[in-house]
Amino acid sequence: MTRRPATVATTRVLLAADVNLELADLEPLVLRIFGAGDRLPGWFRRKLARESVDPACSSLAFGPGDELVGYLLVGAEPGPPEPTAHCAGLGVLPQHRGRGLGPALVACSIAAARRRAAALHALAEPPLRGFYERLGFHPLAANHTLQTSGLGRRDLDLGEHPPAAWPLPGRAVASWRAGTWSRTPTAQAATVQLEHGAAHLSREGQAILVQRLCIDADHDDTSAATIVALEALRQRFAATTPILLYGCDTVSCVTAAILRTPHWRVVQTAWEMQLRFIAAVDKHAPPAASCRRN
Ligand SMILES: CC(C)(COP(=O)(O)OP(=O)(O)OC[C@H]1O[C@@H](n2cnc3c(N)ncnc32)[C@H](O)[C@@H]1OP(=O)(O)O)[C@@H](O)C(=O)NCCC(=O)NCCS
Repeated sequence: MTRRPATVATTRVLLAADVNLELADLEPLVLRIFGAGDRLPGWFRRKLARESVDPACSSLAFGPGDELVGYLLVGAEPGPPEPTAHCAGLGVLPQHRGRGLGPALVACSIAAARRRAAALHALAEPPLRGFYERLGFHPLAANHTLQTSGLGRRDLDLGEHPPAAWPLPGRAVASWRAGTWSRTPTAQAATVQLEHGAAHLSREGQAILVQRLCIDADHDDTSAATIVALEALRQRFAATTPILLYGCDTVSCVTAAILRTPHWRVVQTAWEMQLRFIAAVDKHAPPAASCRRN
């Protein structure tokens, strides 16, 4: 049964699946919280699809006048090795922050996700690591996103390099989510063979996103082979095309070697945070009814 929360004098948090609202309708709220930036038309629907956002695990916060004031999107990852869920966006309007709505959104989604997944993951920029730790999450690893630009005169035609399955031969030196790759539209995805390795790429507006980079296992010096592979990649894209390399372990010597070259820089760092439900049963198992915040 769908229902619209009645007007009340308090804030409250509900699962998105229990509210008469399409997830796509959240776009104006997200823009108010994070700003418009240089997003392309249709970006929010694409995000919902690519992150496999599930209304049954996503939560919405309503203010005293029944207006939307916050959200938490949660996506499903079927596995293997086990099904997990991941936070695909969390935000509260500035005037409603500092009142516990962020934690209430996370608690509401935890109560729903624990029935479908073994763990909930979230990416936290360093200042927000403490926010998730207070909610029972543990840091798994910190990853950089690195950026450079192409070296060529024009971009490789992605259509000539059909996307292959997520596992690639060799050692993964940068890696994003298998589920995200599987949901990237074929027309925007390509698997490219490089000197010493291979990469899964996708087009994100003007930019090329490297979702996975694997280096042949027969190299003694993986760092040196990675540098060669990345230079080969840069040659295939125009100098005006930004190239983003996702999921680079911040303590890996390969990442350090990439950053010693003058071409790559860190544009974002995020902690992969994990809440395993089995270990957290007692602390984080509020019944669905306790999603309400009075
Ligand atoms: C992050 C955000 C969702 C938090 O929501 P909120 O409703 O304001 O959360 P609260 O401030 O009520 O936080 C509750 C608790 O977490 C703590 N907390 C909040 N931010 C924190 C941080 N960065 N580090 C550590 N603790 C933090 C608060 O101190 C509070 O603890 P307390 O209850 O012991 O005082 C909100 O600030 C926001 O929308 N920020 C902008 C968007 C954003 O950064 N999204 C997150 C992307 S991962």
